[in-house]
Amino acid sequence: AKSAAEFVPASQDLARLREAAAGCRGCDLYRDATQTVFGEGTRKARTMMIGEQPGDQEDRRGEPFVGPAGRLLDRALDESGIDREGVYVTNAVKHFKFRRDERGSRRIHKKPGRTEIVACRPWLDAELASVQPDLVILLGATAAQALFGPDFRITERRGEVLELPGDHDAKAVATVHPSSILRSRERDEAYAAFVADLKAAVAVL
Ligand code: URA
Ligand code: SF4
Repeated sequence: AKSAAEFVPASQDLARLREAAAGCRGCDLYRDATQTVFGEGTRKARTMMIGEQPGDQEDRRGEPFVGPAGRLLDRALDESGIDREGVYVTNAVKHFKFRRDERGSRRIHKKPGRTEIVACRPWLDAELASVQPDLVILLGATAAQALFGPDFRITERRGEVLELPGDHDAKAVATVHPSSILRSRERDEAYAAFVADLKAAVAVL
């Protein structure tokens, strides 16, 4: 099966992990993407936020959540009284998956599949082992399913304080992905509910 495992060094040093991730070929996504977008933040962070995968702008810049979804996230963090500097921000899948539009100019996001989520998981485990967060906030179904398995439903569990499965001793809260708020027809309500989830999540710290 496809896996990043052979590329992950036995190290808790984030700089070493990041450097190794830049050369990952654990699944096919490295081929068409610009670069690996590794997590960002310090080992001292008590909170880790996990998104889906880098988008177009993240792929170009090499940093997570710097495009439209990232701007919404920044605003929501600000409103929730959370300092992004104190949060380790990463994605379940570290390369951008996309298709080209008909003219071949725009790159359109494609949802990562189970194969890619499972293949990329060793990087997430390495980040968790390094940062050892007390709280993990899962942004959307891909992140939640990366950790809780494919049967996990955000709609049923959002905002609940859960135990992170596996070896990592942390609380976990799943909420929607910021991109879903940008697409929502009831954007203000969706945004307010998202901020409420973030506030409830950090209250466990
Ligand atoms: N969406 C994500 O899930 N992650 C990013 O880094 C950007 C957009
Ligand atoms: Fe490796 Fe993950 Fe990129 Fe696939 S998506 S090549 S597993 S870093």
